[in-house]
Amino acid sequence: MAKLKIQPDKRISRIRKEIYGHFSEHLGRCIYGGFYVGEDSAIPNVHGMRTDVVEALRRIRIPVLRWPGGCFADEYHWMDGIGPKANRKKMINTHWGGVTEDNSFGTHEYFELCEQLGCEAYVNGNLGSGTVQEMSEWVEYITFEGLSPMANLRRENGHEQAWKLSYFGVGNENWGCGGNMTPEYYANEYRRYQTYVRDYKNLEHDNGAGIRRICCGPNVDDYEWTEDVLKTCFRHCESRFHGNMDGLSLHYYVHPEGWQVKGSATDFNDKVWYKTLSKAFFMDELIRKHSAIMDKYDPEKLISLVVDEWGAWYTVEPGTNPGFLYQQNTVRDALVAGITLNIFNKHSDRVRMANLAQTINVLQSVILTEGADMLLTPTYHVFDLYKEHQDSELVESSIDTGSIGIEKEYQLPWITESVSEDADGTLHITLTNASLTEACPIDVEIAGRKAAEACGEIVCGEMDAKNTFEEPQCVTVEKFTDFRTENGALSLTLPPRSVLRMSVKTEA
Ligand code: AHR
Repeated sequence: MAKLKIQPDKRISRIRKEIYGHFSEHLGRCIYGGFYVGEDSAIPNVHGMRTDVVEALRRIRIPVLRWPGGCFADEYHWMDGIGPKANRKKMINTHWGGVTEDNSFGTHEYFELCEQLGCEAYVNGNLGSGTVQEMSEWVEYITFEGLSPMANLRRENGHEQAWKLSYFGVGNENWGCGGNMTPEYYANEYRRYQTYVRDYKNLEHDNGAGIRRICCGPNVDDYEWTEDVLKTCFRHCESRFHGNMDGLSLHYYVHPEGWQVKGSATDFNDKVWYKTLSKAFFMDELIRKHSAIMDKYDPEKLISLVVDEWGAWYTVEPGTNPGFLYQQNTVRDALVAGITLNIFNKHSDRVRMANLAQTINVLQSVILTEGADMLLTPTYHVFDLYKEHQDSELVESSIDTGSIGIEKEYQLPWITESVSEDADGTLHITLTNASLTEACPIDVEIAGRKAAEACGEIVCGEMDAKNTFEEPQCVTVEKFTDFRTENGALSLTLPPRSVLRMSVKTEA
């Protein structure tokens, strides 16, 4: 019998809702056919945004949506995406299939989408092939309320009010597709570009904060990038630089068979299951090590680690455009999501935003569409379970199970967990069981409190179970009943291949 120990009175940090964020890119069918079908489409839409998609994302309380990329961001020139659609300049989407981008989804459409979703905006600027002026004017166009050339242009294009811009990325993957820069070179560019990302402070932000600037951080375990970027950014202005960097990004994708081969999304064996999940758990080490470097420059943790691209990246579905990165999603992905989100929760003192790549029809998507049809993936259902953690307080917790896996190399904790307390005092416990075969009986010990009432919801199934357009409900959220509350004690049995959320009301 495993023991999950919870200390509700030991609060650690707030789990920012933005940890449950998403990422949309002009890639394959993410924007076109995914979010956006255009106003004239027969598919139900509001101002061109698919109603089914917007409703589904609102149900999981999508907190923030990053856009327009990704690698696409550093080739995107925002002025091509404003004004009458017929006049908008077309471009080649060189990264993603070489298809023609007609720019019919641009700045106005993105903010319309955020409004419909009720989420924060996170725009990623072009540092790789754009200019300082272009970046600066985009921010002016979006956020300036008064009279100015860009604010006036926005009005001419039909939008009187400025929009609320919560986050702005100053380049993307500038160590790679965003310009192949060295850390020192990028850091100097960051210093310059971000200076002109003006915070006009004319918008009402819930917490009083203006635009938060995100600096391009490392690829996976490139600790040298983190160290050198921070060193260069802080040089000659240690005490002043904090206000110029609100976040440092981290990108990490799980490729079961490595970057070149990747591996099928649906056809895999037991070994690849454990390989995938142990690679997902590597996120924990990445956050610890990058955070340790950040601690040297920013011991007060004012700068957030922003994992603005994460998820499993497999070989594309057979017969689909290799440049579109379209992949299916199984119970294995539900585990990848559950494990990773528990890790983010546990590190919420430093990790304050994360964005799963990419919301629809691309990598570890939460939604797939085919014409007018839409389905919710196993990953979607995990976000549904975990949404209760959004803006709750992480509390101290631990579990004493050992590791599980295959070979010495591919190990991860058998059970991962995280626990938060919401504003009403309800405890939300999320657990993953990575075992392919073993159920795990668990005693839950809540220090100083008794479990008065509990309910649970679970996502589980065969390792390769998936939802298809023929069978869209194969993997879904089910009511969990295998638990007992007796004399204030809670115990449960967690089935193999599962992600669970228990919500517990307690009394003294
Ligand atoms: O998510 C696909 C691509 O992966 C993104 O465009 C890029 O930032 C990363 O390399």
